[in-house]
Amino acid sequence: LPPVFLLLTALELSWSLSDEEKKIILDGHNQYRSQVSPPAMDMLKMTWDTELEAFAQAYAEKCIWDHNKERGRRGENLFAMAPILDLEFAVEDWNAEEKYYNFSTATCVPGQMCGHYTQVVWASTHQIGCGSKFCEKIDGLDTEDMYLLVCNYYPPGNMKGRKPYREGPSCSQCPQGRVCVNSLCEAEVGTGEPVSPFTTEDPTLLESMGTAFSPKPVPETNKDMDQPTAGAPGTCLGLSLFLLPSVILVSLLL
Ligand SMILES: *[C@@H]1O[C@H](CO)[C@@H](O)[C@H](O)[C@H]1NC(C)=O
Repeated sequence: LPPVFLLLTALELSWSLSDEEKKIILDGHNQYRSQVSPPAMDMLKMTWDTELEAFAQAYAEKCIWDHNKERGRRGENLFAMAPILDLEFAVEDWNAEEKYYNFSTATCVPGQMCGHYTQVVWASTHQIGCGSKFCEKIDGLDTEDMYLLVCNYYPPGNMKGRKPYREGPSCSQCPQGRVCVNSLCEAEVGTGEPVSPFTTEDPTLLESMGTAFSPKPVPETNKDMDQPTAGAPGTCLGLSLFLLPSVILVSLLL
């Protein structure tokens, strides 16, 4: 049994996001949060949370193109891509829904999705954790051999009838214990995260727009990519990049 366990552990580790990849996702979110228009009075800086990461990774392993019904009080954004997983592009793609969102009326252009965007720029959401998985088959998608990215957020955004943030001069309403850095309310060093400001949320999530996902970005993503005409070489490249480290890990451990 121990060798099997080691094998599974090694495989699991190799599929997870690297520190560099996590930083790309986190920095992407904070960059878009710092650049919202109109500006935000109360936009918190996001930090990476390893518990959310483990939660997202465990769900990504299941290769399902639908929201995690066990996510509880966590926000969730999904993304799928082939033949490679471009994390910068994934966050950019979510944020690009901004063009469909009317901030003054808090409405989305009919037939479009805005929930990924509003979760990315939800002011009170200050923790993120993501996981990814290469899936030969994703339940709910026809395209084979795709990467699935799952990001979970806390506290969740997309509360019914609420705007993602309060409009006004940047950082003018940062919660106590936070200082303004680059238009974001950042936790003061040493004092830890304030706890009380985040307990007053309306627990009712707006499911329809909320933890949004859509199969639509997938074909678009495929079209946007520089795919080799044959298809296969690109896929193989993506595969070998991720398979090789796991093979080395396994042989080292066993
Ligand atoms: C948002 O909606 C309002 C009311 O329908 C409209 O007047 C305004 O032009 C819209 N703003 C944008 C940016 O589309």
